[in-house]
Amino acid sequence: MRNSVIDIADQKEALVDLNDVWVAYDGKWVLKSIYFKCYAGEISGIVGPNGGGKTTLLNVIMGLLRPQKGTVLLFGRKPGKRGRLEVGYLPQISHAQESFPVTVLDVVLMGLYNRIGFFHRPDRNNKEVAINLLAEVNMADHAERPFGVLSGGQQQRVNIARALASEPKLLVLDEPSTGIDSVAQEDFYELLAKLRDEQGISVIMVSHDIGVITSHADQIACLNVQLHYHGEPDSCFSPEISEKVFGKDLKVIVHDSKCATCYHRHQDHD
Ligand SMILES: Nc1ncnc2c1ncn2[C@@H]1O[C@H](COP(=O)(O)OP(=O)(O)OP(=O)(O)O)[C@@H](O)[C@H]1O
Ligand SMILES: [Mg+2]
Repeated sequence: MRNSVIDIADQKEALVDLNDVWVAYDGKWVLKSIYFKCYAGEISGIVGPNGGGKTTLLNVIMGLLRPQKGTVLLFGRKPGKRGRLEVGYLPQISHAQESFPVTVLDVVLMGLYNRIGFFHRPDRNNKEVAINLLAEVNMADHAERPFGVLSGGQQQRVNIARALASEPKLLVLDEPSTGIDSVAQEDFYELLAKLRDEQGISVIMVSHDIGVITSHADQIACLNVQLHYHGEPDSCFSPEISEKVFGKDLKVIVHDSKCATCYHRHQDHD
């Protein structure tokens, strides 16, 4: 069964294709021999410990960081400015943005600057596009509110609207649900599934919350310098993989495939 899935996947063109990628900072390898592919219409989750190389991997995918070894293809080409225009990127949360004295509409208009140019005042048409994008994420009613007063979950929806402004084929999200309560998180994943199903937008998303992401992603990559697992979510919880990725003191408990709190610190430290 799994083989036939792989065969079909191999016939499709990969949106992202990393082939034996190695990255070092200051002479120390932080990514070693990474083979990673993702395909159109998939939500791919990347999990791993702090410092495991997740953000570095995203930077490599978008061509913001060139690996010391290996090859990277984004939409079948070397990643560059053109490829990046087709990616909607949400960096790891920046608290600076929370205090920006800008409205929700302004945040989305910032995403349109690629199209309208930085030095043009947005016209009515641009504002209409921005409002439509806000409607897409259920935030049109908040357009005139200051961005900083929104809840974390609402801010993430607005950030997604901004990322959608460039009409991306692929959303790249670095820990988008950090600090968001579990109800808002569920809504957020539903939004991503809607974008995938209705607009064919693919998603690569980093998350610390293994439990939640495995019940929403189509593919999971477990990364700790090396890629210890890349495949369907159900099989990524073996003790062997969790030990390689998170170390001995983390025990993964799976109650069922929809479980929201699937891991805890193991007290025994054996
Ligand atoms: N610009 C840099 N210069 C030097 N070292 C770096 C740089 N960026 C990242 N690193 C190091 O590379 C390793 C991987 O960092 P990275 O940010 O990719 O991890 P991460 O998995 O995203 O972690 P987190 O879960 O904390 O966000 C870490 O050891 C980090 O200290
Ligand atoms: Mg990171």
